[in-house]
Amino acid sequence: MSTRAISGPATPGPATELLFGDWYPAARAATLRPGKMSTALLLGVPVLLGRKLDGALFAMRDLCPHRGIPLSAGWFDGETVQCKYHGWRFEPVTGQCREIPSLTGLDILQPEKIYATSYPCQERDGYAWVYLPEAGAGRIAATLPPVPEVPKFSAKFRSAHLVADLPCNVDHGIIGLMDPAHGPFVHQAWWWRSRASIHEKHKHFEPIPQGFRMSAHAPSGNSAPYKLLGVYGEPITTTIDFVLPNRRVETIRCGDKWFSSLTTITPVTPSTCRIDVAAAWNVFYRVPGVTFLARFFGARFVRQDQETMIEQAQGLRAHPALMLIDDADKPAKWYFALKQARLTGTGTHPLSGPVTLHWRS
Ligand code: FES
Ligand SMILES: [Fe+2]
Repeated sequence: MSTRAISGPATPGPATELLFGDWYPAARAATLRPGKMSTALLLGVPVLLGRKLDGALFAMRDLCPHRGIPLSAGWFDGETVQCKYHGWRFEPVTGQCREIPSLTGLDILQPEKIYATSYPCQERDGYAWVYLPEAGAGRIAATLPPVPEVPKFSAKFRSAHLVADLPCNVDHGIIGLMDPAHGPFVHQAWWWRSRASIHEKHKHFEPIPQGFRMSAHAPSGNSAPYKLLGVYGEPITTTIDFVLPNRRVETIRCGDKWFSSLTTITPVTPSTCRIDVAAAWNVFYRVPGVTFLARFFGARFVRQDQETMIEQAQGLRAHPALMLIDDADKPAKWYFALKQARLTGTGTHPLSGPVTLHWRS
């Protein structure tokens, strides 16, 4: 189920700096059929995606190293990508050139010494994840960070995913994602919570590498789905991590029952982004229709955020000065500090130890 049908405004809001040197979800892997190729825009980079006949996924910069025409204009036979302009052929996983049709026996140029840019591409949780290196990084490091994954705590589980385009830059997408104070206003619904249910909250946070964790706690008593989980009669704990560049991982556990989600905000361009939610769970495993219900309510949630951000983008086009207040916007301040530390390589973590934040929501 997708909420992509809602289109954003023609002119998106302001741009922001992007974090290269990490994994981003580029497409749903099931859409990449053997022998077919497709394109995606990731951090403003045009990417050619595809799957070879042997099943291997690939991601290349969608640009021929000879004269720059998009490789997607050419052909793919399931083994090599051939450029439309002069017919150079490339093995798409490595980017290695395999053939330059214009060469004669008198030429000394060795095609196999030429490489088109290719990116590491891995399948996880039904996504094709692409590693986009830092500009000018040269050869991609041999050891890459692990590909992000939805945490799972049993062999059997169900899963669902959602996607929505957001007309704002990745920073607004991310701070919207971690914003605790918008819930009672944006996500009002009889089955979730009402505005009248606002109450004071105290949440404990701790630093983790490249991010922060809302420590294991008993979730809000005012949220209906958690009340529902209470039918198992065991204590419920939930942990929410945010990790650069763009990931929120929520884990809810109740005895051996669990529900996890990985939400990512991926920059499409410097001024637009996309939200992807991948969830997995073993709660109510045998109850029919739960996957449908999870998708339905998940889609409604994401749509409420998306509609709000479409409205926000209209305001942001005027480049207004904005505010971040304590404590409700403190996680947003931490995000900006973490991002700045990574961009500048200065490495100071905004949290020196555990802290408790207070807000009403
Ligand atoms: S531009 Fe691609 S082969 Fe010449
Ligand atoms: Fe939200």
